[in-house]
Amino acid sequence: MESPVGETRRPGPAARERFLRAARGQPVDRPPVWLMRQAGRYLPEYRRVREGSSFLEMCRDPDTAAEVSLQPYRRFGMDGVVVFSDILLPLAGLGIELDFDPGPRIANPIRSRPDLANLDGSAAGAIAPTCEAIRRIKAELGDAAAVIGFAGAPWTLAAYVTESPLSRELTTLVGLSYREPALVDRLLDRLAEVAAETLCEQIAAGADALQIFDTWADVLSPERFERFAGRALRRVVSLLPADRPPLILFARGSTHLLEALADVGPEVVSVDWRIDFAEAARRVGGRVSLQGNLDPLALTAPRERIEAEVAAMLAKGRAARGHIANLGHGVLPSVPPEGVGAFVQAVQRSGE
Ligand code: CP3
Repeated sequence: MESPVGETRRPGPAARERFLRAARGQPVDRPPVWLMRQAGRYLPEYRRVREGSSFLEMCRDPDTAAEVSLQPYRRFGMDGVVVFSDILLPLAGLGIELDFDPGPRIANPIRSRPDLANLDGSAAGAIAPTCEAIRRIKAELGDAAAVIGFAGAPWTLAAYVTESPLSRELTTLVGLSYREPALVDRLLDRLAEVAAETLCEQIAAGADALQIFDTWADVLSPERFERFAGRALRRVVSLLPADRPPLILFARGSTHLLEALADVGPEVVSVDWRIDFAEAARRVGGRVSLQGNLDPLALTAPRERIEAEVAAMLAKGRAARGHIANLGHGVLPSVPPEGVGAFVQAVQRSGE
């Protein structure tokens, strides 16, 4: 006997395909769903692995990195699996002395031309474990989910390499951009090469989609974004192969930069909860797909409230050419796993 489930449920496309189609603005049965920072401290199984080793040790062991990347997928069945690593990891290949406590700490920040001259070497060795983890995740998943690789944007990497710990205002980098713009240009050029090399290595390892994190671009006006962060992002994109996987560009709090982000040339722009999602769709949703945009703290609410928030988000997202359901920023350690489950299931059920 056929099960009623088998009769009523359309056997939608494999999740990897759903993800890629939404990124390119092609029709899908429902939006694909994943969450930034979906592997992390909110999961007890992550904390158990984390107990025995440091964050960097976990990133540098391909078995552990692959296992931790797959933990949220095994629980919730997201359509995308982001590889467990960090945007700053590639910098270790260039002589940057990196640690986490839990935020990034850099022992030898770059603030002058001589510092910059020391920034040589290559990202490839430093991210080799990440690329090996991508291969292992892909071998396990096949088409069951898209594997997402990522890199830090030049401006955001520059913020961390110039100041440690980083201030909210990015005091050092923003100050330098007014006093010594040529130095900042050279730093951004170098970091654009690092980001591009990181992404190219991940493409070679089999990443299905790529996200660039420009977390700190929001401190720039649209004009200064074009002058610094945007110019450097275009350089990254120009260094990627023409047949590259879809690119998602994320900048937190970027309401004032939305058109400028779309102009950089990604397939998807990822926005946060500060902008009305329907307004974002109206402004750029015909040109790029949108990713986002629930407030991460909404996941602390009861299930029914999360379902209502997701329904509202999905309704607004229909105005965009494609929508990848996500939060507006990473999952916070204090979020209960049930909240993440309610979020993912609400999107999954929207296709039934
Ligand atoms: O999204 C994922 O699950 C993939 C893995 C991932 C991490 N960091 C793991 C991580 C990704 C994509 C990142 C990106 C990243 N790293 C960004 C851009 C995204 C963003 O959050 O804006 C930035 C700015 C960093 C730098 C960084 N790394 C910070 C500021 C911190 C501390 C933040 C915190 O939550 O305490 C990290 C550490 C870090 N990166 C952790 C994880 C899981 C916490 C590590 C731990 O102690 O277990």
